Amino acid sequence: MSKLVSYSIEDGIAVLLIDNPPVNALSQPVRQAIREKISAVVEDDEIRAVVIACAGRTFSAGADIREFDAPPKDPTLPILNDFIEASSKPVVAALHGTTLGGGLELAMSCHYRVALEGTHVGLPEVHLGLIPGAGGTQRLPRLIGAAAAIEAITTGRHIPANEARDLGILDDVVSDDLLQAGLTAAHKLSNEGHVSCTGDRSVDPATLEDNIFAKAKKALAKRRRGFNAPPAAVDAIEWACTFPIEAGLLKERKLSSKLKASLQSKAQRHLFFAERRALNIPDIPKETPILNIANTGVIGAGTMGAGIAICLLNADLPVTLVETDQKALDRGLARIEKTLDRDVERGRLKSDVRDDRLSRLSGALSLEALSFVDIVVEAVFESMPVKKQIFSALDGICKESAILATNTSTLDINDIAAVTDSPERVIGTHFFSPANVMKLLEVVRGKKTAKTVVATTMKLGRRIGKIPALSGVGYGFIGNRMLEDYVRESQMLLMEGASPAQVDGALENWGMAMGPCAVMDLAGQDVSFLTRDQNRDLLPSDPLYCVPGDIMNAKGRFGQKTGKGFYLYPDGRTRQADPDALNLIRTAATSLGVQSRQGISDQEILDRCLHALINRGAQLLDDSIALRASDIDVVWSAGYGFPAYRGGPMFYADSVGLDVIVDSFDTLASKFGNDYGYWTTAPLLANLAKAGKTFAEYDAENRERA
Ligand code: COA
Repeated sequence: MSKLVSYSIEDGIAVLLIDNPPVNALSQPVRQAIREKISAVVEDDEIRAVVIACAGRTFSAGADIREFDAPPKDPTLPILNDFIEASSKPVVAALHGTTLGGGLELAMSCHYRVALEGTHVGLPEVHLGLIPGAGGTQRLPRLIGAAAAIEAITTGRHIPANEARDLGILDDVVSDDLLQAGLTAAHKLSNEGHVSCTGDRSVDPATLEDNIFAKAKKALAKRRRGFNAPPAAVDAIEWACTFPIEAGLLKERKLSSKLKASLQSKAQRHLFFAERRALNIPDIPKETPILNIANTGVIGAGTMGAGIAICLLNADLPVTLVETDQKALDRGLARIEKTLDRDVERGRLKSDVRDDRLSRLSGALSLEALSFVDIVVEAVFESMPVKKQIFSALDGICKESAILATNTSTLDINDIAAVTDSPERVIGTHFFSPANVMKLLEVVRGKKTAKTVVATTMKLGRRIGKIPALSGVGYGFIGNRMLEDYVRESQMLLMEGASPAQVDGALENWGMAMGPCAVMDLAGQDVSFLTRDQNRDLLPSDPLYCVPGDIMNAKGRFGQKTGKGFYLYPDGRTRQADPDALNLIRTAATSLGVQSRQGISDQEILDRCLHALINRGAQLLDDSIALRASDIDVVWSAGYGFPAYRGGPMFYADSVGLDVIVDSFDTLASKFGNDYGYWTTAPLLANLAKAGKTFAEYDAENRERA
């Protein structure tokens, strides 16, 4: 325990240094040590005040999330924070790094907060399906007012130190010698002879905008549809603005305990760890050498290439963008500039940072310009001959250590690698459109890809702010392969008489960001058709397979870009039901002998689409395309709009019960037939269900074996 929180005395001030790597989480032994040491200070007449600081890369980044599944142990963080605030001697928090969640709540219980420049503070609990539960919802509004507290807590954003000082969260920001600044503040407070507690303050009712809490909840119902934690945070903040702190803390406790036990929070906590676990590849040790990436190249200046270039520029990497034609290159460069300009206009980027980023961007018309880069990401259109030509040329042009990555979403990376003399440096980096916005990066490992290339690419993914997940080579990798089954069922439902609005409505009400019909219209019915058509030999020979999509393509109804697809888009974006689309689908269905059914229920839509998705996920695990069920959850929540509060398809399956899913397959098979194996349970799913196990248990057993 003494190692976790060390204690020294500097000129009558006690310095508590928390040292609990990697992020100084406030686990029970840390909390206990802090309480014991502050108790000792209070008893010791020689000591006038306390400074709490942290060793390593950051002040505490919060409560220890791993403890959340167990009953809380004394002293809980709320108890510790109340104890600190009530201390008769001043307690100063000296912050650096990312002071988040419980770390900031602890700091707000102290009597003064000083931070090193570059520090970020925040209360990101909503991302774990929680509210700050150790006084954060009560103390933050008392420091910065209701409106700013609602914004900070419901977005969970990391607030830069200078902004936090201007808001009133911090008392001071210093450019160096943080500890000295903490000691100086501690002396000053102890000389003043009294301490001011955040909890003693109140929010002036005159500062509250009319109906502020109701308005905030209404906005959240749209912006964070389906999430329980953000509106609960608003409730807790309302109490902070209405009642004395003791009552507010009790309210916070109640709300927080309920959320912590909820499936939503368990799902979001699962994803937090799943995203981090996805970075660990069982056969690639942590000490695998990482290649230095200092210069990058992108081939193809279309939407995808430009988006990828922006990701790299945003991580301060120089980018050489290559196109075959000057006009296309100019368009790509202009697109990048426009996107960064927009970020400046919206206040997301400072203009000097934009200028700096653009100064790292250069354009070229020949692959020869890539001779010096450390990684090339090819993002030209999906044509195997074109990609093969590019990779065969790159092999001779790029330096030997360079990584050759392809952004293909459908083609076989092993075939692309085979045209090079060094297939070990070829890898897939599957970005999602718009590449500079979407978080997911599917990293696709070829048969011969070197371990160091995989490790470097995963690390680069993190560096450019993505959530990387590893996939093996196979049609559609993880995400699009599963999408195929999900879309298949959604379009079967259209053939049987459901409307696009009904199918999308059922899935969106359940939590999907966008229903599958709207997704197809957004992605482009022509693009989906082309992929299907190029891969017919891999898909079922079912004459009904995705017929609605094929018709939309045949009729030039490509979706949003042509103003009509499954829906009409009068303004280019807002969808409207279209009787013509329904008629086209109905006519095709009738000619193929599919009867229209009345009364297709939302439950049927959910079961068919989601269970097809889960079954394919299980098959991908069986085929070793996905390493873990939790990786699949990462892919679908970060890249396909699967609601985080349901934890991803495999976590959701566990929560429903695998036996229930398997039973539903039997029912579906007997109702709709099973000529094409749609309702044949993947062996892994069947075996787990039979053994009464979950995908989480499957992952854990595999981890132990690895
Ligand atoms: N409790 C327990 N473990 C935590 C943790 C927490 N609050 N915060 C981070 N960790 C662990 C991670 O799981 C990871 O473990 P691993 O190396 O075994 O995978 C390790 O600390 C490093 O975290 P990572 O996210 O990979 O580092 P980073 O430098 O990219 O980001 C943070 C650091 C602090 C910004 C990020 O970890 C974070 O946002 N943490 C959660 C903060 C939070 O939600 N706090 C409120 C909790 S109520």
